[in-house]
Amino acid sequence: MVYELAVVATADDLDRYHAIRRAELFEARSRRDYDSAHPDEIKPNHFRLLLKCNGIGVATTRFDLLGDGVAALRLVAVTRAEQRRGYGRVLADLIEALARQKGISKLVVNAAPDAIGYYERMGFVREAWDPAELVGISADSIQMAKYLE
Ligand SMILES: CC(C)(COP(=O)(O)OP(=O)(O)OC[C@H]1O[C@@H](n2cnc3c(N)ncnc32)[C@H](O)[C@@H]1OP(=O)(O)O)[C@@H](O)C(=O)NCCC(=O)NCCS
Repeated sequence: MVYELAVVATADDLDRYHAIRRAELFEARSRRDYDSAHPDEIKPNHFRLLLKCNGIGVATTRFDLLGDGVAALRLVAVTRAEQRRGYGRVLADLIEALARQKGISKLVVNAAPDAIGYYERMGFVREAWDPAELVGISADSIQMAKYLE
């Protein structure tokens, strides 16, 4: 297996990135309001990431630099047919490597309740890093953080 965590740059990668997010984080939860043109998607310190396995996009997240050595993971998702096969762990490992390269010392996430176990396995612990974010799509999320050494 050849893995690559790519910053989305081509039209094909962008289509795949949005398709995975729309399917796994919105339609799978009976939400019809996915907005691929959300302004947060194109902010300068926000990186749209696609995990490719042997050249095929299998997972996504957005990596937002929040300042002060903190980065947030937004909308982590593995495509349905490939869930529970290890891609989530590969994604977490490659994100951590990227974070270290960028001098990040703390990763934070608004975790969906049914994904808490995944983040715990990845070394995150519960921490209310910004309760003001727990609105809208994140209203029932649990805030978690991982400190990088
Ligand atoms: C949550 C998600 C990203 C995990 O990715 P994945 O590829 O399925 O995870 P992996 O197969 O790499 O599993 C890694 C570890 O986490 C565990 N795990 C994965 N999903 C889990 C879950 N929902 N609950 C509890 N543990 C979970 C696995 O058992 C595995 O543990 P192990 O390595 O100790 O055996 C993926 O299942 C997904 O996209 N789910 C739907 C969207 C979602 O909920 N995203 C999170 C939004 S905050």
